[in-house]
Amino acid sequence: MSKMSALLVTVTLLCVQVLHGLPHTAFQSKKPHGVNREPQFTEKYFSQTVDHFNFNSMGNGTFSQRYLITEKYWKKGHGPVFFYTGNEGDVWEFALNSGFITELAAQQGALVIFAEHRYYGKSLPFGKDSFKIPQIGLLTVEQALADYAVMITELKQQLAATQCPVIVFGGSYGGMLSVYMRLKYPNIVAGALAASAPILSTAGMGDPRQFFRDVTDDFASVTPECRDAVRGAFHQLKELAEHQDYSRIQSEFSLCKPPSSAQDIHQLNGLLRNAFTLMAMLDYPYSTHFMGNMPANPVKVACKTMLNGSDLLSNLRNTAAIVYNATGVLTCFDLYSLYLECADPTGCGLGFDSMAWDYQACTEINLCYESNNVTDMFPSMPFTESDRERYCSKRWSVVPRPDWLKIQFWGDALSTASNIIFSNGDLDPWANGGVRKTLSSSLIAINISEGAHHLDLRGSNDADPVSVISARKTEADLIAQWVKMEKIRLGQSL
Ligand SMILES: *[C@@H]1O[C@H](CO)[C@@H](O)[C@H](O)[C@H]1NC(C)=O
Ligand SMILES: *[C@@H]1O[C@H](CO)[C@@H](O)[C@H](O)[C@H]1NC(C)=O
Ligand SMILES: *[C@@H]1O[C@H](CO)[C@@H](O)[C@H](O)[C@H]1NC(C)=O
Ligand SMILES: *[C@@H]1O[C@H](CO)[C@@H](O)[C@H](O)[C@H]1NC(C)=O
Ligand SMILES: *[C@@H]1O[C@H](CO)[C@@H](O)[C@H](O)[C@H]1NC(C)=O
Repeated sequence: MSKMSALLVTVTLLCVQVLHGLPHTAFQSKKPHGVNREPQFTEKYFSQTVDHFNFNSMGNGTFSQRYLITEKYWKKGHGPVFFYTGNEGDVWEFALNSGFITELAAQQGALVIFAEHRYYGKSLPFGKDSFKIPQIGLLTVEQALADYAVMITELKQQLAATQCPVIVFGGSYGGMLSVYMRLKYPNIVAGALAASAPILSTAGMGDPRQFFRDVTDDFASVTPECRDAVRGAFHQLKELAEHQDYSRIQSEFSLCKPPSSAQDIHQLNGLLRNAFTLMAMLDYPYSTHFMGNMPANPVKVACKTMLNGSDLLSNLRNTAAIVYNATGVLTCFDLYSLYLECADPTGCGLGFDSMAWDYQACTEINLCYESNNVTDMFPSMPFTESDRERYCSKRWSVVPRPDWLKIQFWGDALSTASNIIFSNGDLDPWANGGVRKTLSSSLIAINISEGAHHLDLRGSNDADPVSVISARKTEADLIAQWVKMEKIRLGQSL
């Protein structure tokens, strides 16, 4: 890891440049591409406090925080506010992939706001200097939550919505933020829909093997031969690497340059593993353009490819190409620009957003997940807390605090909270890092069989499984109840 980090800095900077020229091949750019922007949203900026917790710091000014808003469905002054607590990327990416929220707004007469998380997209407190030390230091979960609390409060005033209940929504890390908003600012937020929010594993309360085990299970559930073929292919790669047959590896995997070290092989293994991770997470029943382009049912497509004839290495290359060559314009695999190793073994994406996420994974968010080739099909790639510490102190001059999220956001002792939905899809490798069991009459866990990463937040689709249709119905009913109760508390006549 420590050798890697020096490389990573250079590579990260390189990639930023590469990315702008190649939005399609630069996979996981987490930027919207080729998708029509919903005309219904208006893009605006909010003047936000840079440092909410220190009046006398370099952050004593303000920055422009981006948000998207639509009043199209709103019963002015009465209907609720549906507020998406933006996560680690360009806010348009989430708005364009969370159609359920506007569908629900149409049913319930809501105002819809998608807020961009500080340090992502265009919401950079210090412009291009935001990713320098010490400017990066104001990227924390607490600052992001305070941003949302302040933004909600001021926008409600501006829009004459002070008596309108606020429901927060989020997927993945955004779902974690929506839970935290309800825990920390119940005066402002009446309820939260947290879709695929791994609030337990990221607070250090998970099994480090769980994530890649669950990725593996997705492929094994298509057919166990699929898992075995993947394991077999990685075994063949390992043998070639042991014999330092680097030119053969280059030709088998269409690499731009021959590998020349154990570090290069490690990088190749990471890049390949990440393709499986993304296909498992984004295993939707129709093709999508979210975190890259995916065909419908990518896990099935991958297994078909892995079992296409007996040349396992070529099958593995073609399977990785489903992810990295979705647009068909990749001429060769460039090991260090298609994938970045970082403090998140499930991937940080590319470009500036990846730096911000790496920093968060180096500070508050625990992502010490490992693969081991026993409980999963991948080469053994440990990532322990001490690996994390070593990497993070070198990359960002920080020492992670593994217990801090758990201490401040209640850990798993959530039973006295209220009005939170924890939804999870059974196909999603993040699911078992979250809350799977209903904890009280207002802390509701919903399972979505055949559902991938926050499928429920996506707009309705003809290919939706019945499970997600029914999950959305339950969510709509609970939210309508919370809104009704909150209107009474706020003194709105019904
Ligand atoms: C606070 O802002 C003022 C005016 O922008 C600036 O002159 C001052 O140096 C800032 N304080 C700190 C501690 O950075
Ligand atoms: C299987 O391999 C054949 C021959 O190499 C190729 O034409 C075909 O597209 C492959 N199918 C899949 C699903 O990869
Ligand atoms: C990417 O896809 C195109 C079109 O199918 C193909 O011609 C090309 O060889 C692929 N690139 C790699 C590196 O596999
Ligand atoms: C995975 O484990 C099997 C069985 O022990 C071994 O043969 C194989 O080489 C291992 N694969 C890798 C990539 O380490
Ligand atoms: C959801 O599925 C998990 C794992 O299969 C199970 O433990 C849990 O009880 C289920 N939760 C609900 C609410 O059905």
